This record gives sequence, C-alpha cells and structure tokens, in this order.
Amino acid sequence: MGGDGIGPEVVDASLKVLDVAAGSAGLAIDLSEDLLHGACWEKHGVFIRPETLEQAGNMDALLVGAVGGPQWDHIVIDGGPEEQDGLMKLRHELDVFACIRHARAWEALLDKTPFSPQRIRGADVIIMREMCGGAMFTRTRGIETRADGSRRAYDLNEYTSDEIARFARVGFEVARRRKSRVVSVDKSNVFVSGKLWREVVDDIAGSEFPDVNLVHMYTDNASYQLCCHPTTFDVILADNLFGDILSDQCGSIAGSLGMLCSASLPDLSAQGRVTGTAIYEPVHGSAPDIAGQGTANPVGMILSVAMMLEYSGGAVECARKIEAAVDMAFNAGFATRDIGGKHGTEEMTDAIIQQFRSL
Ligand code: NAD
Ligand code: IPM
Ligand code: MN
Repeated sequence: MGGDGIGPEVVDASLKVLDVAAGSAGLAIDLSEDLLHGACWEKHGVFIRPETLEQAGNMDALLVGAVGGPQWDHIVIDGGPEEQDGLMKLRHELDVFACIRHARAWEALLDKTPFSPQRIRGADVIIMREMCGGAMFTRTRGIETRADGSRRAYDLNEYTSDEIARFARVGFEVARRRKSRVVSVDKSNVFVSGKLWREVVDDIAGSEFPDVNLVHMYTDNASYQLCCHPTTFDVILADNLFGDILSDQCGSIAGSLGMLCSASLPDLSAQGRVTGTAIYEPVHGSAPDIAGQGTANPVGMILSVAMMLEYSGGAVECARKIEAAVDMAFNAGFATRDIGGKHGTEEMTDAIIQQFRSL
C-alpha cells in the first residue's frame, strides 16, 4: 500500500529490492497491492475499504509507504480516531501494539548529521513505541463549546495495566536480542498515567526479565540525553505519543528522517518471530513538499522490507544483507538530497541492489 505523497515512490523502490532479495533467499512472495487513505478516498470515497481490511488480516505482512496530506485533513468521519486515517485503522484492527523503530548512525554519513562524528559514531537506538493506545486512540476526545462561547478540546491519555504489560514484554524481548539495556520513558512526575506506566514496566522487568538492565527516565530528560549522548541508548520504551516524537527525533542520528524503518507487531516470540499480520513502514510521512520529484530517500522503506524479511519471513541473513548493501551504497558515495547527495530515488535504489548482488 503506497498510500499518499512520496509513499508510492518509496514502496516501488522497496519492491524492487524485495524482488531481488527474496529471489536470492529462495523466498516466493505472494504480493498484492491496494489503496490507502487519501489515494483510496479519491477512488472509493473512504480511507480504507472493508474488503481491504478483511484481506489485510489474512496477510503475513503489510508494507505501507505513508499516508496523509492537507487535501484530506478537513474530512471528518463518524467514530473514533482510527476512522479518520486509513493507516490508524489498520493499526487498530490488526492490534499491532508493539512498534519497533530503528535508528543507527551510518559511518559514511556521520558528517551529514547535526552531531560531531565522535559524538554520534556507533549510535544504534531502537524506540519501542506503544502503537494502539494512549491519547492517540482514546475514545474520550472531543471539542465542545462552553456556556461562555469559548471551546474546550481534550484527548484522554489513558492506559490499562494490560496494555502496558503486553507492550513492555515485547520491548524486553527485543532488548534481550540486543544489548539488554532498556530506558523506559514517562512523565510520572506529573501524570498518573505515567505512574502506572512506570509501575507496570518495573513489575514485568522484575518478574520476567531480571537479566535486562532497566532505567526509568522522564521523557523530557530522555530527549535531552538523546541529543547529548546518543550512543548510550540501546532500547527505549515509550507510550504512543512520546514514541511518535522521540522516533522522529532519532532521524537526526541517521542523518535524515527518510532513513528510519519500523515494524509494528501484534506479537513476538522469544525467537524473534511474528505469527500474526504485521505492518512495515518507514517512520517518515508523505512529505508533500517533495512528492512527485523522484528525490525521496527510499532507505527507510527499504530497511522496513528488511525488517519484514526478518520478523515475518524468518530470513534474518537476507535482512542483514539488505542492511549491508545500504551501508555499501553510502560508502560508494550514493546519497539522496536529504542527506546531502544528488542521487534520485531510483539511482539510490539501483545502487543498493547492485551492492546486494555483489554480496
Ligand atoms: P513528513 O515526515 O512527511 O516530512 C517531514 C520532513 O522530512 C519534510 O521536509 C520532508 O520532505 C522530509 N522527508 C520525510 N521523508 C523523507 C524522505 N523519505 N526523503 C527525503 N525527505 C523526507 O512529516 P510532515 O510534513 O509533518 O507530514 C506530512 C504528512 O504526512 C501529513 O499529512 C502527516 O499527517 C503525514 N504523516 C504520515 C505518516 C505515516 O504515514 N506513517 C507519518 C508522519 C506524517
Ligand atoms: C507516524 C505518524 C502517524 C502517527 C500519523 C500519520 C497518524 O506520525 O507513524 O509516526 O502519529 O502515528
Ligand atoms: Mn510520527
């Protein structure tokens, strides 16, 4: 599902890589395509068709480019927040509550980041974002006019202990497969929802993951520490809103938001495999400012395909090969405009494929 803006451009690029990568791994991919959000609205008058939702649940994985654009922002659909956005509807229906967003510093691009090379070299951070709850999906929301004519708007930031616990478990599993270091962020100094978050994360860590090193940090401080000492982080656990913000911030580690990939999972085994339908998408949006120019950075989407091969396909080696090919393409001097280069989406993609073939 290409979606809107640069979404279809980066999905096309990633499918070219998928074709070559799956072929080399002997994986047969049964692929179908569909419209999402604005593109679907233009053709069918809905943000997502019911048949799309039904089919989505039967897939191993969904690849999504990006959705949204100012031309659809004024449309209001009856129902909760998920009805207002085709992608949020998919996240909600598939219950992909555990979102893994990965940012790393690439050696060839250190001087394209806002950091000095010595500060950013080696940074490799996963933001675990709770993806199906909190203020983003609350039903307690609205805008009302008060007696004095002024208006009051609200979106309740609510979490149940079960929502926090299932998310924390996946976060700790992900950390165990890395350096086993977790920073859980919250604003428990102010919000009672943050107090529950901290308490439940602590309980799960103590009872089920005593081997994982857990530190709690207030979110504002975590954002600051990410700027000053990005290499000290391994896995960050964050609620839906904080995870949204911190994951964009981590675009600075890679050199551009266009480089970040994600996997939104409905479950994760200790072996790192998913059984239900997962969604793989870049962290960036539809970038209307550069849509249609052929200049979008395809790397976030291509690395999302690598995550798909790893988590939904079990093709871990193939995923590592895609990441290596991206690194080699950067080392060979290929770069899109957002990271200071002059290569278009297609040239960048072809360079990655060429490097992949050489591995
Ligand atoms: P955005 O991520 O689309 O763009 C932010 C900035 O980063 C822009 O300057 C853009 O040109 C640049 N950028 C993003 N991806 C890039 C890429 N691959 N290559 C080069 N440059 C890239 O965020 P925004 O401008 O705040 O939002 C635009 C629209 O996208 C809105 O409608 C928003 O709701 C939507 N959005 C969708 C998703 C999603 O589908 N997951 C995520 C974020 C925003
Ligand atoms: C993201 C985006 C989405 C979100 C929007 C488009 C609904 O910003 O995937 O990070 O806030 O979840
Ligand atoms: Mn976002």
